Amino acid sequence: MNQMVLEAATLADAESLARLHAASFTETWSIATFTRLLASPGGFGLMARVPGRAAPEGGILCQVAADQAEIFFFAVSGRGRRRGTGRRLLDGALAAAAGRGATHMLLEVAVNNAAALALYRRAGFVEVGRRAGYYQDVAGRPLAALVMRREIDPQALRMRSR
Ligand SMILES: CC(C)(COP(=O)(O)OP(=O)(O)OC[C@H]1O[C@@H](n2cnc3c(N)ncnc32)[C@H](O)[C@@H]1OP(=O)(O)O)[C@@H](O)C(=O)NCCC(=O)NCCS
Repeated sequence: MNQMVLEAATLADAESLARLHAASFTETWSIATFTRLLASPGGFGLMARVPGRAAPEGGILCQVAADQAEIFFFAVSGRGRRRGTGRRLLDGALAAAAGRGATHMLLEVAVNNAAALALYRRAGFVEVGRRAGYYQDVAGRPLAALVMRREIDPQALRMRSR
């Protein structure tokens, strides 16, 4: 955990992001999908790395449009979970979004994703909507998504990082 660093994701990370996605979700997102998201207007990502280790510990991919930031992808590798990496990636993404002019962040999370829901709630996100059948569970049955939102106060983020 102490050695872990956050770095801006580049197009060269598209393959690692696709691997992280495949290890965490049943739906497949190709390298091309991550390349497109990273290259999209307002798109940005962060990678969590342990120096000297080839595979990243985790990554987060977002987009800022006007004053709104949205998380498209967020995962920590199975072996690296529950060590604070996810929270650091999320806090880094909030700060980066604030730096790009976002005043709030939105995300969708499956109703049965207890780990992510706990992390988001602890980080100050609140439920603002529900999308029935947005995902599928492992058996292919429809699964609802919760839409969550958090205001971003750039000053508070600056103070916390001091
Ligand atoms: C969600 C995810 C990114 C969390 O990453 P992580 O590095 O394990 O999270 P952290 O260690 O920073 O956890 C921060 C807090 O979140 C909560 N949390 C994280 N994992 C949890 C779990 N399995 N059960 C309950 N609470 C959990 C806890 O409050 C935790 O703080 P604590 O360890 O001091 O109790 C990770 O579980 C993951 O990659 N899951 C698969 C992909 C995914 O679901 N992504 C989100 C899609 S919306």
